[in-house]
Amino acid sequence: RLDMFDHAERVLKINDMGTYTVPTHGLYPFQWNWDSCLTALGQAHFDEHRAWTEIDTLFQHQWEDGMVPHIVFHKQDKGYFPGPDVWQTGRTVPTSGITQPPVAGYVVKRLVDHARDPDLAEARARDLVPKIARWHEWFHACRDPKKTGLVAILHPWESGRDNSIDWDDAFSRVPTDGVGEFKRRDTSHADAAHRPTDEQYKRYIWLVQRFRSLNWDNTRLHDASPFQVVDPGFNAILIRSVADIAELAERYGMTGIAQMSRRHVAEGLAALESLWDDRLGQYVCFDRPAGRKVDSASIGGILPVFAAIPLERVQQLATRIEALKARVEYLIPSHDPADPRFESLRYWRGPVWLIINHMIIDGLVRGDVPDLIARITSDSIRLIEEGGFAEYHDPLTAEPCGGGTFSWTAAMIMEFLQ
Ligand code: DGY
Repeated sequence: RLDMFDHAERVLKINDMGTYTVPTHGLYPFQWNWDSCLTALGQAHFDEHRAWTEIDTLFQHQWEDGMVPHIVFHKQDKGYFPGPDVWQTGRTVPTSGITQPPVAGYVVKRLVDHARDPDLAEARARDLVPKIARWHEWFHACRDPKKTGLVAILHPWESGRDNSIDWDDAFSRVPTDGVGEFKRRDTSHADAAHRPTDEQYKRYIWLVQRFRSLNWDNTRLHDASPFQVVDPGFNAILIRSVADIAELAERYGMTGIAQMSRRHVAEGLAALESLWDDRLGQYVCFDRPAGRKVDSASIGGILPVFAAIPLERVQQLATRIEALKARVEYLIPSHDPADPRFESLRYWRGPVWLIINHMIIDGLVRGDVPDLIARITSDSIRLIEEGGFAEYHDPLTAEPCGGGTFSWTAAMIMEFLQ
């Protein structure tokens, strides 16, 4: 176990670029938004200054409108597609033009709560809280223009669950015309059988081109996008982060931020209930332009346990995970194997992701399910023992998938072992 902890620390150091950490060299050679924040949780175990710098660097690239982009292209790298020349967001240090799950609020509060140096933590958190609150406000203004209480993602890459079965239907309405020739780079770093398909890549790029044609004007993108999906997992992460920022803001006397955040939490939690699906026993996505729920039993519908949902729902989601236990060797698969669309190796269509296990365990603490928590924790550790510090793993065999030497996997292992 000690060896594993040391190994995790080495992984984080290998990927450390000084002021930011790459998810893994080669496949993802820049700073990714939620990767970076979750990586900081690992760094804090051996260097709290370094952990705070990771988040500070990300927020130095926050847009004027409040958005925090999903990639910061700190330097050129021809090994990645789509690079800054495709995004064309016109920033001095180039960034992408979309965002990612807002885990920053959660991470900052966790760093504060576990700090060995509370003065450092308070100083850094005081600086970050207003910035994170501004990002949250951006979500509410630009991704929930009709004030439903829930935000939509406009691109599968925003969800972080790029090729989830959740998007298949909505994505089939995204055209591919006008997408020129391009050369994917991801499949030269990782096995193509673990990655999205070429067809999906064309649609990813079509959306980027559409948003680029609108000059990345976030007051227009939502309504102009043929893809607007309300993901319960994404919304739960937002609600949780807003709640954590509310608490920090209150502690620091930032009353305006605290009040506004509390209001959004209440509205979000109430609206989330509309995504509950009794048949599946979990939450599901809502396809906004189609005006209907998405029939897809993904991990996105279990992740709401991360927010302060009713305790009865926590128990129901625990029952749901118990049912998945019989269908896999390692919890928790990103999609239910009982669904014929499940693929055990392909990215977000089946594999296990340690960051998801971490967030779900955190939420299950509110329920009375210690055995289930112990099982998810030991499965997570076994996966790394058997498959190494991979990006994600096959839930049936522990086969390592995607990139290796992966930052957030290492960071999460440090959290599981603590
Ligand atoms: C990728 O390149 O696969 C990323 O997930 C997009 O952000």
